[in-house]
Amino acid sequence: MAKLIIQGGTPLRGLVRAGGRKNSAVAVLPAALLCDSPSVLESLPAIDDVAVYGDILQHLGCKVSASSVAPGCNGAVTIDPGGLQPAEIPYELTKRLRASYYLLGVMLARHGAAQVPLPGGCDIGLRPIDQHLKGLRALGAEVNIEHGVVNARAACLTGTSIYLDVVSVGATINIMLAATLAQGTTVIENAAREPHIVDLANYLNAAGARVQGAGTDVIRIRGVNRLNGCVHAIIPDEIEAATYMIAAASTGGDVQVNNVIPKHLDPVIAKLQEAGAEVTEEGDRLRVRMSGRPRAVNVKTLPYPGFPTDAQQPMTVLLSLAEGTSIVTESIWESRFKHVDELKRMGTNIRVEGHTAIIEGVDRLTGAPVTASDLRAGAALMVAALAAHGETVISGIELVDRGYESVTSKLKGMGANVRREQ
Ligand code: EPZ
Repeated sequence: MAKLIIQGGTPLRGLVRAGGRKNSAVAVLPAALLCDSPSVLESLPAIDDVAVYGDILQHLGCKVSASSVAPGCNGAVTIDPGGLQPAEIPYELTKRLRASYYLLGVMLARHGAAQVPLPGGCDIGLRPIDQHLKGLRALGAEVNIEHGVVNARAACLTGTSIYLDVVSVGATINIMLAATLAQGTTVIENAAREPHIVDLANYLNAAGARVQGAGTDVIRIRGVNRLNGCVHAIIPDEIEAATYMIAAASTGGDVQVNNVIPKHLDPVIAKLQEAGAEVTEEGDRLRVRMSGRPRAVNVKTLPYPGFPTDAQQPMTVLLSLAEGTSIVTESIWESRFKHVDELKRMGTNIRVEGHTAIIEGVDRLTGAPVTASDLRAGAALMVAALAAHGETVISGIELVDRGYESVTSKLKGMGANVRREQ
């Protein structure tokens, strides 16, 4: 288990650059398999989830410019789907990330059959995929689950109208992927509107697809016969940016986050300002300054453009230090307060009742040994450690590597006293 050791209590100051968006990268990587020729993907983040996706694509017979997909490497990666084979993907790979389920839509569209073990990913409660399966069935696929593997088969996918019972990012993406090469037009109603859905649509359209309406709750996909690989740059990761913005505010610091699309961060900026932070925007840069104790604010997570659930865990740390009582309501995931028990070891006063955390602000946190239970829980512990007095040792930091690139060097770049140990 790798550990991050942080001597906290020093305000973060300086610059940090957000990398490419994780949840966009893990949708565009499988989308590249829909093409007949290679795609060049730029700004892929150097994170473990991207590396695992690279391994999956290679397992399926694709050529990936592998050295660039390893953690620690940035820049353009070429995905050549020329050798794509309809192979079953080993559970050891799919269990390592949620987004492996996008191969259902992709392999059905390319080969008329898909065999994908039920996906893994963060332990944040029940994560059903019924809306994915409903969508694929509506397009004409026969789908069953046996021995932990989703088997889907379709002689031909045919466009249709699909209403999602819940707003699901993953189901919206999976249906878009399958519908791109289907016959006729597919309409997804009650679709998710997250920016990475727009990013995926932009990639698909650049490759020759006909996707309209991404970013609204009705997406129309007119099926085409083939896609050609193209060059596409992944959009910046607003959750990585949000984490560093919240860390700056929690430590009473002054940090400029570069390479952001400020609009994507509107709900986070609004809550930081309500808590007393000064946030200024200039082009693709956001500067966050905080002096004095934060004010208590209430936060409710919602699908985009609401406050993102993926920033909820770090935000609870800022509110733990606020003057007064804050209420955080998690409306997306069943169990996304697992970081709270660990935060209590650092002196927070938080009570969790079902989907709500009631946070009585304290004036200081103290370092302690803690363990990350999932990706954003790890990020929250990192923020707490930076703000806390004394030393915090965070175990299980590999979970953070799944979604945050070069954590140690980025934190050091903002003046943090941090080191990593295996
Ligand atoms: C994506 O998960 C992200 N993961 C998550 O990021 C993020 O928290 C989530 O969207 C919400 O924004 C990736 O993009 C790889 P959903 P996803 O389908 O697609 C219910 C992170 O930290 N639901 O939008 O799996 C579900 O239970 C992570 O980066 C169904 O009921 O989320 C949840 O309550 C973790 N049936 C809600 O919908 C379904 O078939 C939203 O889930 C699908 C989902």
